[in-house]
Amino acid sequence: MPLSGRLLVTGGAGFIGSTWVRQVLRNNPDVRVTVLDKLTYAGNPANLREIEDDPRYRFVKGDITDRDLVSELAGEVDTIVNFAAESHVDRSIEEPDAFIRTDVLGTHVLLEAARRAGHRRYLQISTDEVYGDVAHGASVETDPLRPRSPYSASKASGDLLVSAYFTTYGLATLITRASNNFGPHQYPEKLIPLFITNALDDEPLPLYGDGRQVRDWLYVEDHCAAISLVLERGEPGSTYNVGGGSQITNLELTEMVLSELGKPRSLIRHVEDRPGHDRRYAIDSSRVRALGWRPQRTLREALAETVGWYVEHPEWWRPLKTGEYLDYYRRQYGARLAASDAGSVVERA
Ligand code: NAD
Ligand code: TYD
Repeated sequence: MPLSGRLLVTGGAGFIGSTWVRQVLRNNPDVRVTVLDKLTYAGNPANLREIEDDPRYRFVKGDITDRDLVSELAGEVDTIVNFAAESHVDRSIEEPDAFIRTDVLGTHVLLEAARRAGHRRYLQISTDEVYGDVAHGASVETDPLRPRSPYSASKASGDLLVSAYFTTYGLATLITRASNNFGPHQYPEKLIPLFITNALDDEPLPLYGDGRQVRDWLYVEDHCAAISLVLERGEPGSTYNVGGGSQITNLELTEMVLSELGKPRSLIRHVEDRPGHDRRYAIDSSRVRALGWRPQRTLREALAETVGWYVEHPEWWRPLKTGEYLDYYRRQYGARLAASDAGSVVERA
């Protein structure tokens, strides 16, 4: 059954939100989409260029914490899908304030507007990081939340508000918790696009600690298909884990990226670890699989496609690696890379 109705998609100019909006307009003739996005450093109008003339789509620049604007827009739609967030763990460690404002307060503003407007559905896009570090096995949706970074704590807080709005007000809420996404249009601060674009310029790849942390990589188009399925068929009040089923260490993944690009292993630099770095994430996706969802590509296929996209689209990422990005890069990596080059960080077995 195709999606229909009028959707307010917050954070739709970001990496996953824009991929979802493009996918939804491609696959569902009867859907109308309003994107609300603040256009922070991570929001990029270029991600929505291919649909900007679609009469079913419109863009509003604004902040999800703006109650008047959100309430006005909520009155024009029947469903909110909330992608808007501050999303990078390292930035949350450096400066948590914006994470609390957008991911917690912003979520509350959206929920309140959805409740007052009597919406049909509210879908919160969340993350497996809310479960915290998982030494063994895989997290299920009913597990306790043990977030450990300001980012994951802000996302967990948002999830708790969503659940409260279901229990207290009967708002038909849904939550998806996805594992690490990758694909075209991902801002080059996250591991995969950072390492692809650095390697293309023969710049070092700063791998935190021993590089043996484990993540479960999910191709963004597969994630977006799961989001549509949950919106269509999910049971109100429920949460759905969405994992790629591709667990791998950061070091192994980095080697795959280098081999895809034909670049040498000598670009890898082991640098000082991220504080509070979660060693492993793993989620059980049986619930969303029971709705009929499966990832459509292997990690290797999707990574090859992603690498190919960055190789072919320097006009998308080169302008991003300037200005504020370079200041951030220096703060985040300058001293670490210098220490690594001086030999004070060694690879631990
Ligand atoms: P992103 O950083 O690429 O995009 C976030 C978007 O939200 C940007 O367009 C930004 O301008 C917008 N935004 C930020 N603050 C806003 C505000 N106050 N008001 C309106 N818009 C605002 O993030 P992403 O990787 O696309 O992630 C999207 C969602 O998916 C987030 O909620 C994130 O927590 C979640 N998620 C991400 C991953 C991942 O691996 N990237 C995995 C699981 C879940
Ligand atoms: P990231 O893309 O920031 O996602 P998250 O922290 O949300 O999982 O990082 C993925 C993994 O890669 C994580 O274990 C941290 C590690 N990492 C590095 O080793 N070096 C880097 O420069 C970055 C950005 C991440």
